[in-house]
Amino acid sequence: EPQTPTATRRVLVAKPRGYCAGVDRAVEAVERALEQYGAPIYVRKQIVHNVHVVKTLEAKGAIFVEETEEVPEGEIVVFSAHGVSPAVHQEAAQRQLRTIDATCPLVTKVHNEAKRFANQDYDILLIGHEGHEEVEGTSGEAPDHIQLVDGLDSVDRVTVKDPSKLVWLSQTTLSVDETIETVNRLKERFPTLLDPPSDDICYATQNRQVAVKELAAECQLVIVVGSQNSSNSKRLVEVAKDYGADASYLVDYAAEIQDAWLEGVTTVGVTSGASVPDDLVSDVLAHLAARGFGDVQEVESVKESMRFALPHELRKDLRAG
Ligand code: F3S
Repeated sequence: EPQTPTATRRVLVAKPRGYCAGVDRAVEAVERALEQYGAPIYVRKQIVHNVHVVKTLEAKGAIFVEETEEVPEGEIVVFSAHGVSPAVHQEAAQRQLRTIDATCPLVTKVHNEAKRFANQDYDILLIGHEGHEEVEGTSGEAPDHIQLVDGLDSVDRVTVKDPSKLVWLSQTTLSVDETIETVNRLKERFPTLLDPPSDDICYATQNRQVAVKELAAECQLVIVVGSQNSSNSKRLVEVAKDYGADASYLVDYAAEIQDAWLEGVTTVGVTSGASVPDDLVSDVLAHLAARGFGDVQEVESVKESMRFALPHELRKDLRAG
């Protein structure tokens, strides 16, 4: 029996949390495409890395495939927020698919940096997670110039043609602190390593990490709503633990919260990854309230106002219609 008096139990909710501008745009692109052209609309890969979002869109008539070759000729395919390599665009064109590119503009920015540095014959060290879709897409822009650096250990394995023409870029959803550590280690080996022209870790990833840092030290438990394959959500769990939470768990749904996690806990932190609809956070708050954690305070650290226009291929038809 937990002995904590109800009055001292509280919840701190991080803000900003949840949907970023790139996810909002990608999800809306699929919804609007379904309205405009009718089901089915094919989507290559999960449009964003969230189980609930994917299920909801499937119920509305979206069909998720792994590769464009699974899409029947002539059909419409949406590319996910994580971006695709030029080879995928070519395949789609060969199969006469109509494409809607929902790549986040902040991922496209990194692709453009990669292309530009590759054209100038730089070696590019791309800091990111092996196998992540975004890294595969970005690497595909210049496979001969890009090496993946995944974690401190891989710093030693980097080989470089000309250290005076060397730049690092990164995946958009990394841990800010870990990336700084990796860059510092790279610079020990290659002091002439150039920084990217602007931050590659996106505003949403950075802000969600800042927000969770602000409350983690006051919490014995931090619940992060998000899916297992969501890079930015997983980083929030790590950051919460690094900044003082005794425990932190990633959950897709409120029902996954175990009562044992709450034993002896007086303050629970709650946040969510950039691909997570806020309804799922509301469900978590209701679940906690039912267990005596009804005192909810939002802790706002940064104001966000970013918005992105829908993909132009879609906007054109929406206007025409
Ligand atoms: Fe874009 Fe960052 Fe969201 S790269 S999709 S704004 S997490």
